[in-house]
Amino acid sequence: MKIPLIIDCDPGVDDATGLQMAFATDQIELLAVTTVGGNVPATATARNACILRQIAGREDVPVFAGADRPLRRNPAGAGEFHGAEGLGDLSPFETRKGVEAEPAADALIRLVMERPAGEVTLIMMGPMTNLALALRKEPSLASRLKQVVAMGGARSEGGNITASAEFNIWADPDAAHEVLSSPAKVVMLGLDATHQVRVSEERIQTIEAIDNDPARTVAAMLRFSQRIEREIVGWHSAPLHDPCTVAYVLAPELFDVVPADIRVECDSDLTRGHTAVEFRVKPEDTRHLWAKGVRDREVFYLIGQLLARAGEPK
Ligand code: RIB
Ligand code: CA
Repeated sequence: MKIPLIIDCDPGVDDATGLQMAFATDQIELLAVTTVGGNVPATATARNACILRQIAGREDVPVFAGADRPLRRNPAGAGEFHGAEGLGDLSPFETRKGVEAEPAADALIRLVMERPAGEVTLIMMGPMTNLALALRKEPSLASRLKQVVAMGGARSEGGNITASAEFNIWADPDAAHEVLSSPAKVVMLGLDATHQVRVSEERIQTIEAIDNDPARTVAAMLRFSQRIEREIVGWHSAPLHDPCTVAYVLAPELFDVVPADIRVECDSDLTRGHTAVEFRVKPEDTRHLWAKGVRDREVFYLIGQLLARAGEPK
């Protein structure tokens, strides 16, 4: 049976790679892509999802635009890591098909509630605002979902937007708090895991050797990330965050996950968005899992395998 999946994202170059993975595989029934303001403003993330969908030839997948600001905090971006338009060096273009009229939070509720309980997985690649809004409107959504696989947070790795917080959680800490406090089962792939999945020249060349537009798009974005990582961070190898969520859904055995109590700092300006990840918890006392590690070679092999099949009938 195909895996019924919704992806919520803020494309963003690493979101783009994760989307191309999901668009390419026949193992996923991709019910929808929902977008949120994050790396770049909400209007750009919605446009970018439609562009990436057209590149993948997957206009069968509806895109729903979502929140243009966090629940409480002011909108903040990360355009320096994703390019002014959020697509790295790729110039945006007008797509044949745009977003649906229905807001993302309403679409999330409708698509999950119309399927049997425990069937639909939700991947979150950006700030959790859309899911928090949906949960406020329909609290039973939390237990209806099979699981939420979210890229976010940090424990041993420290932060990437501040000393103590990862961007997705920092951008909307209140939304993350409401999601993690709900009955939803969350698998959090934080920097502790995603920092172990890094781009290299050899890996880029492997993707560049795949002769299709999705792979060419991903390779160009990986090259952009490499350049930015060197220029801004002074590091030679860019981390690949969001693709880990799709890899987890398709191959959870590649990840070392443990039960954890996960809480979010929402008030301190100094430590806003910090994830307090407590492993000293009985498995029966938490619904959440935390990724401590990942087999990065196998994740990259999976990315290449998926992209090689992009464009094949689904
Ligand atoms: O901290 C990494 C996360 O923030 C990724 O989802 C990236 O796309 C940015 O949104
Ligand atoms: Ca993202």
